[in-house]
Amino acid sequence: MLRIDKLTKRFGDKIAVDTATLDIDKPCMIGIIGRSGAGKSTLLRMINRLGDASEGRILFEGRDVTQLRGKEKRAWQSDCAMIFQQFNLVPRMDVVSNVLHGTLNRRSTLATLFNLYPMDDIHRAIDILDRLGIAEHAAKRAEALSGGQQQRVAIARALMQDPSIILADEPIASLDPMNAQTVMEALRRIHEEDGRTVIANLHTLDTARRYCDRVVGMRDGRIVFDGLPEQLTTGVAREIYGAGADFSEAATSTEIETLNRTKPRRAPTAAV
Ligand SMILES: Nc1ncnc2c1ncn2[C@@H]1O[C@H](COP(=O)(O)OP(=O)(O)OP(=O)(O)O)[C@@H](O)[C@H]1O
Ligand SMILES: [Mg+2]
Repeated sequence: MLRIDKLTKRFGDKIAVDTATLDIDKPCMIGIIGRSGAGKSTLLRMINRLGDASEGRILFEGRDVTQLRGKEKRAWQSDCAMIFQQFNLVPRMDVVSNVLHGTLNRRSTLATLFNLYPMDDIHRAIDILDRLGIAEHAAKRAEALSGGQQQRVAIARALMQDPSIILADEPIASLDPMNAQTVMEALRRIHEEDGRTVIANLHTLDTARRYCDRVVGMRDGRIVFDGLPEQLTTGVAREIYGAGADFSEAATSTEIETLNRTKPRRAPTAAV
């Protein structure tokens, strides 16, 4: 489905991503881990074409998306929606309008200018907010919501694009453990129920282990681990993080695991 083939990104002499190769043959949820500066964001940005690759290719269903221009590039960007740590909502705009922004790519300039949205889109936006458990906040300004709620609005905006892939760059790094859990569970359910692929950069090992089917470890721009969460032992983590014998998982851990010690590893699949 998605093949990342020897992808490299240079910033001057600095190699941020170094011949990264990754094959995703069916929809899954992937966590990318690695220390700060390992190249996680750069890799996601290249997939979404927010940043161009220096070398290598990204093939989606056989098509090289690194070559797309103009309308086709925008269509691809819409098909691999991106979610950011800081939500990137319009703070003073109401929630439902923020979600409707997810349809911008396919609307005319005139319609955008006058804030005209088809009724069907408005209903769909409300349905998506409802699915994420935040429909009651639809009319509020985005800035009036908690961080976890705002991130769910960002997820709703992404879903409005009906993407095949959701790229999430540290989606829970600004959230407290409870909100982080809600957001990760939402992403997991979107993967399980809709069959969308989710690729999330994550700071913490336990989050990657708990929610992802596959974990990719990056170090100095290279992919140094690609395997199942079970294979991510402390020894492997030490290699990925380039840490010594004093490496402690607690250093890359949130309290989510502690809060959920009695729950199964996979989030249950009840409606969000
Ligand atoms: N626009 C840029 N110009 C120059 N160097 C850059 C640029 N963007 C990233 N880099 C460098 O590329 C490397 C990888 O950065 P990147 O942001 O991808 O890391 P990361 O794994 O996402 O880190 P973090 O966990 O801190 O978000 C770093 O050394 C960074 O300084
Ligand atoms: Mg980053």
